[in-house]
Amino acid sequence: MIIAKSAKDLDKMRAVGELIAEVREALRAMVNPGLSTLDLNAAAEKMMRDAGAIPTFIGYKPYGMVPFPFAICASVNEQIVHGFSNSRPLEEGDIISLDMACTLNGFVGDTAMTLPVGEVTDELKQLIRVTEECLDLGIQASRVNNRVGDIGWAIQQHADKFGYGIVRDYTGHGIGRSMHEAPQIPNYGRPGTKERIRAGYCFAIEPMLNLGTHETRTLSDKWTVVTMDGKASAHAEHTIAVTADGPEILTLTKEQKKQRLNDQTAMAAV
Ligand code: MF3
Ligand code: CO
Ligand code: CO
Repeated sequence: MIIAKSAKDLDKMRAVGELIAEVREALRAMVNPGLSTLDLNAAAEKMMRDAGAIPTFIGYKPYGMVPFPFAICASVNEQIVHGFSNSRPLEEGDIISLDMACTLNGFVGDTAMTLPVGEVTDELKQLIRVTEECLDLGIQASRVNNRVGDIGWAIQQHADKFGYGIVRDYTGHGIGRSMHEAPQIPNYGRPGTKERIRAGYCFAIEPMLNLGTHETRTLSDKWTVVTMDGKASAHAEHTIAVTADGPEILTLTKEQKKQRLNDQTAMAAV
């Protein structure tokens, strides 16, 4: 069953979305050669707890799995998702995906980004840019009366232009009081298929694109997912709410929301 959120619940989704976006932007500003993923994890956990929120990932344990031990997923280069933090300094030329979620007043916000560490190759820059474009396209397809397959199609048709491997073993998802709710939202699909989208639905849209094969495997730590061919992978994620007026991105900072309003006003003026 897909849970449509009430106006009151949507306000709580907005609050947690803004908080996790502030954490994301703080981490974005920290990423540099020499910093370790443990440093990023510690900063994220502190920000969440200082704000009165719970790091949703710590202890997260899907059936048959071991509990996830960190506040963030830090996935470097060929790591796709669910990477463990460690003390290795990030190196110029790496790319790093940071995925994070917290729970505030009973509701979850979930967001991810991929960043270059220092200067990276054009090939990696393009992979990151197209992953963000796919996220935007998936969000734009998240409209009342569209279907979940329209989201997957919007993402797939763009990723396909570049020949990227679209990860199939992990998907976006509904989100609310639980981090993972129905429906699953694959990053591929056919227009007009799967569940109909209604007002009040909240989704985490999260394309994962690989330079090479879409195939994945999991490391012996039981969590870290890497590409089968060792080529790089990028991930971008927002939590959104479907409203009668269109998709609303919940995981934006106050500053980013203000900027968007300004951009829209400037667009309307031309
Ligand atoms: N946040 C991930 C997602 O985007 C799930 C991470 S599960 C964890 O759905 F256990 F690794 F934290
Ligand atoms: Co996430
Ligand atoms: Co997610």
